[in-house]
Amino acid sequence: MCGIIGYVGTQNAVPIILDGLKRLEYRGYDSSGIAVMNNNGFDVVKQKGRLSELEALISQRPMSGYMGIGHTRWATHGKPSDINSHPHLGSQNKIAIVHNGIIENYRQIKERLEQKGTNFVSQTDSEVIAQLAEYYYNGDIVEAVIKTAGNLEGSYALGIMCLDEPDRLIAIKKDNPLIIGVADHGIFIASDVPAVLAHTNKVYYLNDKEIAVLTKTSVEFYNMDREPVHKEPETITWSIDSAEKGGYEHFMLKEIMEQPRVLKETVQSALGCGDNRRIIDGLDVSRFNRIVITACGSAYNAGMVSKYVFEQLCRITVEVELASEFRYKDPIVDCNTLVILVSQSGETADTIAAMREAKRKGAATLSIVNVVGSTIARESDYTLYTMAGPEIAVATTKAFSAQLVLLYILAVSFAKKLGKITKEAADNLFAEIASLPDIATGMLKRIDPVQKYAATCVGYKSIFFIGRNIDYAIAMEGSLKLKEISYIHSEAYAGGELKHGTISLIEDNTLVVAISCCERLYEKIYSNAEQVISRGAKVLFIGNCIKAVPGERLEIIELPKINELFAPSLSVVYLQLFSYYVAANKGLDIDKPRNLAKSVTVE
Ligand code: F6R
Repeated sequence: MCGIIGYVGTQNAVPIILDGLKRLEYRGYDSSGIAVMNNNGFDVVKQKGRLSELEALISQRPMSGYMGIGHTRWATHGKPSDINSHPHLGSQNKIAIVHNGIIENYRQIKERLEQKGTNFVSQTDSEVIAQLAEYYYNGDIVEAVIKTAGNLEGSYALGIMCLDEPDRLIAIKKDNPLIIGVADHGIFIASDVPAVLAHTNKVYYLNDKEIAVLTKTSVEFYNMDREPVHKEPETITWSIDSAEKGGYEHFMLKEIMEQPRVLKETVQSALGCGDNRRIIDGLDVSRFNRIVITACGSAYNAGMVSKYVFEQLCRITVEVELASEFRYKDPIVDCNTLVILVSQSGETADTIAAMREAKRKGAATLSIVNVVGSTIARESDYTLYTMAGPEIAVATTKAFSAQLVLLYILAVSFAKKLGKITKEAADNLFAEIASLPDIATGMLKRIDPVQKYAATCVGYKSIFFIGRNIDYAIAMEGSLKLKEISYIHSEAYAGGELKHGTISLIEDNTLVVAISCCERLYEKIYSNAEQVISRGAKVLFIGNCIKAVPGERLEIIELPKINELFAPSLSVVYLQLFSYYVAANKGLDIDKPRNLAKSVTVE
């Protein structure tokens, strides 16, 4: 959480940093700030509220500089306020820092410095970094940063400027992402690639406890012993257009609409001749007697959907674990277990910890990740990339869909390798997966019924989602999507579970969204729908095997036919749109829902 950016170069740093912060706002948006260095020293503006408010302030009180650092915050220590916003300065105003992460031992450091007379002004953990760096500063900022980092416990990605060394911008990281971008007019640091894409596609990935020293024209890397580190830059293939709204009102809608292309490219990379294909083909699956999928939020839901596919096709036990639980449960995994990590950002703290725990226990780790060069992508034994491009809306859509198809393809490949299905059967299943992009294109041309129905749903206090079997798994994602962007309470239940308690919550005009793509279970889910209708509920049926006719309390939205194992990829498109239009009709800030951040890099 929190986004940081820094720039040193020949152009005015202020608009460059503000633009970069806009592209990082998905990481946190309760306050923001910027510090620049110019011929008069530091100029700092920071305040509580959205970035647009900071921009408005700066337009009234112009500032400029050739070097600067900026921050967009998701509060962890100290409530959102002007004083708790970054950048933070030491009390002598010599060192300014921006920080993404959590300093776990900040209380001890603070007490130590207070005893020596340092005066703290904020409630944040981050301020100790600026104060400690000033305490250690003795004419060499790199040395001060090394000493400071040596005292910090926790996670950090830092941008640091020192008044007495006005030509150098320093960066260091541990357990939080930081990239260095090299443009022809200057050098950048940033939490993520989209922040620099308008200027360069040449980036270095900083490893833990590596220090980058930037000037207007150069960047050098060192380890904590101050020995030079050689690094090669990587070329990013994402285009700047993919990080723009492209005429849509919200990134979320644009990203939903991009799904056919994303599905196509992801399928191509795994079934054509891309890197994903090479990795999947090279996997020796015969050594695994268990598969554990671990992830958070929507990525966990993708794992839940794929459990049905793996188990059905491979006849192998698949456990799906929340990464935040897996890391603390002394998981039963060994060298015969394949642990699959699913993560859009590749930086989710809990998923990283789960991966490290699995590796520590000797399991093989395979990640499905969207962000190239992210921690999970680099540390897992095998990495498959989803071809979603930058996903900006906090609520994931296209990355989720890409995760699903990669998981399907893995499941079919494993089943073939294990001899559970014939080559011909596998080819038929691959062909069905490959047909998803075109089917999704057709669906996205017929979104009117979803849009109209969603417009009638803004008044609900609570909406339930039900399904059976794999439809239940995708109902979980529908429910999560709705609650996170529309702020309507929602829960997902297996249809058969209602009668064991939940049905008591059903009353007049409760809405129940029922998913029905498992034809063999249609009568069961229909009977669940009737049970809630007879208790006053309204039902929105979304599916491809519905025999009922619409009525006063029953609305139907048809989906195209497809193998039930892959139907979640279709249901989810309309579930995403349903949530989107409910939230849009409520006039909510869809791309940046309250209290959330896209990249959850803290526990
Ligand atoms: C929901 C959502 C989150 C993420 C979760 C994991 O729309 O986006 O639930 O899925 O925070 O994030 P990643 O995939 O980056 O590990």
